[in-house]
Amino acid sequence: MSSPDTRLLTSNINLSGAVPARTESAHTSPALPALLAHLPGLVCAGALSVSGAGIGLPWLILLVSGTASALAWHWRLPIWWRYINLLFLPLLGLALHLQSDAINPDWYLAAFLLLALTSIGAIRTRVPLYLSSPRAAEELARRLPANGRLIDLGCGFGGPLARIHKQRPDARLAGIEAAPLNWLISKLHLRAKGARADIRLGNLWDVNLASYDIVYAYLSPVPMARLWDKALLEMKPGSLFISNTFAISDVDAGFDADEIVEIASPGDLTHARLLIWRMR
Ligand SMILES: C[S@@+](CC[C@H](N)C(=O)[O-])C[C@H]1O[C@@H](n2cnc3c(N)ncnc32)[C@H](O)[C@@H]1O
Repeated sequence: MSSPDTRLLTSNINLSGAVPARTESAHTSPALPALLAHLPGLVCAGALSVSGAGIGLPWLILLVSGTASALAWHWRLPIWWRYINLLFLPLLGLALHLQSDAINPDWYLAAFLLLALTSIGAIRTRVPLYLSSPRAAEELARRLPANGRLIDLGCGFGGPLARIHKQRPDARLAGIEAAPLNWLISKLHLRAKGARADIRLGNLWDVNLASYDIVYAYLSPVPMARLWDKALLEMKPGSLFISNTFAISDVDAGFDADEIVEIASPGDLTHARLLIWRMR
């Protein structure tokens, strides 16, 4: 365990050294308000259709999704909920229309199963699946000491680890992944590349970070404060905690990082960057 860092003062670690699960419970899920945002539009659309105003279904759908999106904006839900609310009903209508016409319903089941096996945990963890760019892996590989150890917390399909292995075959790599299909793909991916990597199926909160030179996380804003507390408690002095894009809190926006590396390519809407903290 690293010696106490002044940054502990701003953390949530209690004297027993435990890391309470603060932020995941502190953030209430926006899915419920996003769903409720459809209600006013639904009531209006219902009233209009029984009034005999003769408004077509596409316009009623537009009314409901437009109001739901405006409410998501008004309630300051994360920005993507505006788009989800705008597109949810029209896409549902389109899917139902296509289903009756041409598409075999088994495809919907297959798509659902695929989504569930890769991402169903995101309902609880609020960390969806999206993938690091090759540029992120390049920066990670560059910072690893000789024969260094790196872990990717939530290793997805294993892309970053495979790229690091290619650049740094001496690296001792590990990944932990909660979604079974992602874990399997990651394991097979690294095996196919001949990488020496320990890929586990499990929960990142159960991994001790003490032995790693680099701990890499590309997660979401939700677990970051708790993860920072864990890093402060467990990581050794001199090791690097590297977060792709997400700061420790919405408030500091990454300004207390020791280094920030922009990794988004021109025109890239992700605004990806690596926030790098050297542990003391
Ligand atoms: C944004 S993806 C990043 C994937 C990969 N690290 C990359 O950079 O390409 C986050 C991954 O973390 C996984 N994940 C989320 N919460 C987790 C947890 N508590 N324990 C282990 N894996 C988790 C998700 O299943 C998802 O595959």
